[in-house]
Amino acid sequence: MKRIAVLTSGGDSPGMNAAIRAIVRSASCAEMEVFGVARGYEGLIAGEIAPMDRRGVGGIIQRGGTVLKTARSANFMTEEGFRMAMNMLESFQIEGLIVIGGNGSLRGAAQLIRAGINVIGLPGTIDNDLPFTDFTIGFDTAVNTVLSAISNVRDTSASHERTTIIEVMGAKCGDIAVYAGVTGGAEIILIPEREPDLNEICRVLIGNKNKGKMSSIIIKAEGVDISTAELEKEIRGRTGLDVKMVILSYLQRGGSPTASDRMLASRLGYEAVRLLKDNIANKAVGVVGGEVRSFDLEAALEMDGAKVTDLSFLTDVLSS
Ligand code: F6P
Repeated sequence: MKRIAVLTSGGDSPGMNAAIRAIVRSASCAEMEVFGVARGYEGLIAGEIAPMDRRGVGGIIQRGGTVLKTARSANFMTEEGFRMAMNMLESFQIEGLIVIGGNGSLRGAAQLIRAGINVIGLPGTIDNDLPFTDFTIGFDTAVNTVLSAISNVRDTSASHERTTIIEVMGAKCGDIAVYAGVTGGAEIILIPEREPDLNEICRVLIGNKNKGKMSSIIIKAEGVDISTAELEKEIRGRTGLDVKMVILSYLQRGGSPTASDRMLASRLGYEAVRLLKDNIANKAVGVVGGEVRSFDLEAALEMDGAKVTDLSFLTDVLSS
């Protein structure tokens, strides 16, 4: 293939720019033309497609977000919107499309594949909820952002002898909560993969108090089946402890990508171009055991890949 395009879609994630840069520069080395599609599938439908060159992607590797902008496109899910997107790919004579995004975005990519478009999918989401890769682009940065928030919250929480619940993102996946919670020394970690046991949570907190530990941090993933406000109220009511909550929200989606995310994005971006150059498409590219691997994209989305569902190995680490 000689003429390819790249788009970022869904929630932005730190490292998307590093992937775009790697794609544009690898393509340029392979003497392929690259087009950037603005605002994900929305921009594809609207024909917001422009050529990109090596120099144009200078100075973006350290920036969070995505220079191509992003969107969650309801239009693309309609028959009319999908047809318009197909027409645009045809009129710009795009031979291969690289989609960087999360679950929903890669499902959109699968739809394009079924319609005959050559697509490569890269995992770009902070959630780390894609089964074909050990890590998604943006996850490491988000974890480190949460980690720094935990440190700040711990200072004030300890000073006031409070219990603080920190809600983190992750959609239906508990990986951000687990990685940040373990490395941040949280006393309790709540993830959607496990039903929270309110009695057990209160028992641990009271146990801590009886041992003289007056302040605790609870990391709660947003996908857990109880709202953070409700949890705060329940714990306060049942234990009499001073409980506060912090919802980190979009704070954890921005910021300069870590070295690890920049490296991952660069490796995956390079591989996506290599595949298209060799006329190989319809793959999802990820990293497994440190190796860059590609899988049939549709099958990759259905893989059994729950990564962190069992916290039993953490019991010793969490207790004090
Ligand atoms: O997919 C990434 C993510 O940040 C999730 O963790 C979160 O649930 C969601 O996006 C928020 O989406 P939006 O930007 O549409 O509010």
